Amino acid sequence: MSAVICGTGSYAPEYIMDNDRIAELVETNDDWIRERTGIRRRHIAKTETTTFMAVEAAKGAVENAGISPEEIDLIITATLSSDVILPCTACEVQKEIGAKNAAAFDINAACSGFVIACNMAEAFFAAGQYRTALIVAAESLSRLTDWSDRNTCILFGDGAGAAVLKNAPGKHFLSVTHSDGEKGWTLTCKSRPAADAEKSLREHFIDMNGQEIFKFAVRKVPELVKEVLQKNAVDQEEIAWYIMHQANSRILEAVAKRLGEPAMKFPMNLQHYGNTSSASIPLLLDEMNRTGRFSKGEKILMAGFGAGLTWSGSILAWGI
Ligand code: COA
Repeated sequence: MSAVICGTGSYAPEYIMDNDRIAELVETNDDWIRERTGIRRRHIAKTETTTFMAVEAAKGAVENAGISPEEIDLIITATLSSDVILPCTACEVQKEIGAKNAAAFDINAACSGFVIACNMAEAFFAAGQYRTALIVAAESLSRLTDWSDRNTCILFGDGAGAAVLKNAPGKHFLSVTHSDGEKGWTLTCKSRPAADAEKSLREHFIDMNGQEIFKFAVRKVPELVKEVLQKNAVDQEEIAWYIMHQANSRILEAVAKRLGEPAMKFPMNLQHYGNTSSASIPLLLDEMNRTGRFSKGEKILMAGFGAGLTWSGSILAWGI
């Protein structure tokens, strides 16, 4: 049995902030941001909460899959920016969509979160425990962004995406996840209050060593892709699409080049959304789905990478 994607949904906040607006806040400009990152604009949640966006994306995915909420037996929400510590966002989603038979919990694996959540669902499928999973990823990164730090505020955006996975006949794919806590310092955000109030305020925001993260991604993601392919005895030519975490166009172009794959197999929408962490992959899946770019049975290789450090990849089949 294998996990197939049979429905997707997404939500992007109404307010759109372009690069010119950021240039009013910090010393930067549209050309610099586009050239170094590929990003032109991002959606910012002015009124929407993380939970609201998660629920909207979840509703879209359930409707697109054509299932009733009662059929869902597992909901995993990936987020690093939940509105509250308790209850978890996944339980809020469960309540709002009426998925009363589902087990629901959150995971925080930063930008790898959606892929790792899918991998967990697939492992539950393989164990025979669940058959239908709703994987949601939702982020309000704008609330964790220091809008006076040009190293980071140009990169991030808000949004949510979701996918319904079903256990279907077919080959079961094994996933690969790696972590390197030694490099955790390269991308941090300490949201809990520290004894020193002033320090606490500063540490509330995302702090990043951009060059270290860049090098890590360009080196580790191609290795990850090869490991996933090898572990599953799948040839590179069998992969129809590489759906990668949307961090930076230069990272994705470098990964494609290292793998010897054409850029068209690495679709991107980061120019419109920025880096939405865990939400970036399902936002792209939904856009590709709604514009009819996937065909039934196509193999999709997903890869997430980011804080932790964590990086994770897996193959899923398109099932609609
Ligand atoms: N606008 C204009 N100039 C900027 C700038 C900005 N927003 N940010 C930095 N600069 C300046 C620097 O001060 C530096 O100037 P200097 O040469 O006079 O010292 C110069 O631009 C180059 O800075 P550098 O940090 O070397 O730029 P870079 O090419 O590494 O690009 C990032 C910076 C952040 C775009 C890039 O490192 C990156 O994308 N890293 C990965 C980040 C990421 O994806 N994080 C999330 C992972 S999940």
